[in-house]
Amino acid sequence: MKMWGGRFSKEPDGGFIEFSSSVGFDARLYPYDILCTRAWAGALKDVGVLSAQESESIGAALDEVEKELDDGSFEFAPSDEDIHTAVERRLVELIGPAGGKVRTGRSRNDQVACDMRLFVRDACRLASEGVRKLQACLLDLAGSNIDLVIAGHTHLQRAQPVLLAHALLSFVHMMERDLNLLACADGMADSLPLGSGALAGTGLPVDRMNLAEALGFSGVSQNSMDAVGDRDFVSAGVYAFSSIMIHLSRLSEQVILWCSEEFGLATLDDSWSTGSSLMPQKKNPDGFELVRGKTGRVVGDLMGLLTVMKGLPLTYNRDLQEDKEAFFDAFDSVMGCLNVVERSMATISFDAERAAETVEGGFITATDLADYMVSRGLDFPEAHRVTGEMVSYCVSHGKGLSEMTLGEMKEISQAVDDGVMDWMSVRASIERRSVAGGTAPDAVASQIAEARRKLSDQVGGM
Ligand code: ARG
Repeated sequence: MKMWGGRFSKEPDGGFIEFSSSVGFDARLYPYDILCTRAWAGALKDVGVLSAQESESIGAALDEVEKELDDGSFEFAPSDEDIHTAVERRLVELIGPAGGKVRTGRSRNDQVACDMRLFVRDACRLASEGVRKLQACLLDLAGSNIDLVIAGHTHLQRAQPVLLAHALLSFVHMMERDLNLLACADGMADSLPLGSGALAGTGLPVDRMNLAEALGFSGVSQNSMDAVGDRDFVSAGVYAFSSIMIHLSRLSEQVILWCSEEFGLATLDDSWSTGSSLMPQKKNPDGFELVRGKTGRVVGDLMGLLTVMKGLPLTYNRDLQEDKEAFFDAFDSVMGCLNVVERSMATISFDAERAAETVEGGFITATDLADYMVSRGLDFPEAHRVTGEMVSYCVSHGKGLSEMTLGEMKEISQAVDDGVMDWMSVRASIERRSVAGGTAPDAVASQIAEARRKLSDQVGGM
């Protein structure tokens, strides 16, 4: 059944029908399409377009259509251009011309905008749940490895000792920002477009606020021309997904490095690892590599969407149909990745001995040595220079800073004394950094407690 055709003297070309049909991918909007149609039928009854009996039979027919779509018995017809056409076609099949009346005062333009808003809102909620689950997993991992010290890096060069828990928590904080972005996208989608008609607003005196409430929106769109052409909420959702993916990708890269023989810090459970068809010894972190790879795909979805929007004249244009596959693909990818990262992270074990090796014997507390000299009266630039000289001395003598004797140090600077070795031990270095947000065990423990509190507030409030 076509929703148009009266003014045409020819049927559309078969190739064109195939090219323009969206039902193959927008069928997944059906629960929202039915919800919106039900609400619109209620509004039509309120303004007298539908009799009580018509509205009742439309309601019952919508139940039947929903059941068929739920259990897979719904038969799509070749003429179903999109899910909206398919639902209306079936309504008419079930109850006759009264089924078509539900289209009165409504266009597919405000209808698809409404369906998409509801879909995006649910998608943001589901993604937030996925993010929180991963945060909880990282917090557990941080809590159970609270004593483990590793080498922190800048420029991928050993920099200063940090707690592994501190490193894991950094991802919890990145994800906290993702939750804000998801909430923001949800907020952008939280406005009812129904009642906008094709572009100029419906001519029926429907109570839009009532409709909004029935569909869970807290307000109604204020400009019908904007409402039918707006997909900013879709881009905002995919931007939030891209941000999640970028953080998952960074976490994946970190895990891949930690699991390498070169780092040797972490081991992934066999159930989340793959082998090589050629090299019998290989144990590869393919899951994390796929997550890193899928990040490119989700960012690509975002670029695609933004580019579709660029240069669209007012108001609805068919280009907007391209929003769906991009959004669905980004959403499916992010949900799959959140699940895989959470489940595989939960199986990771860390090697305490190897972690200790990475912080002993080198120069990882050189900054502490400079700070020590500052505590003994040197200004920092001078302390930095002198420490650099000591490092250079060690490099040429093939030893680490802690292997220098006090005598050797004093040859370079008088600003050192007996206490220096204790001061620049890895433990002391970590413990001194008790500033809020620092890597000292107490500071990290309060970060964990705070993050746990936030998480239980959010989960409790969901
Ligand atoms: N499948 C269309 C879309 O996704 C539905 C709206 C069609 N509207 C129209 N005027 N052709 O955008």
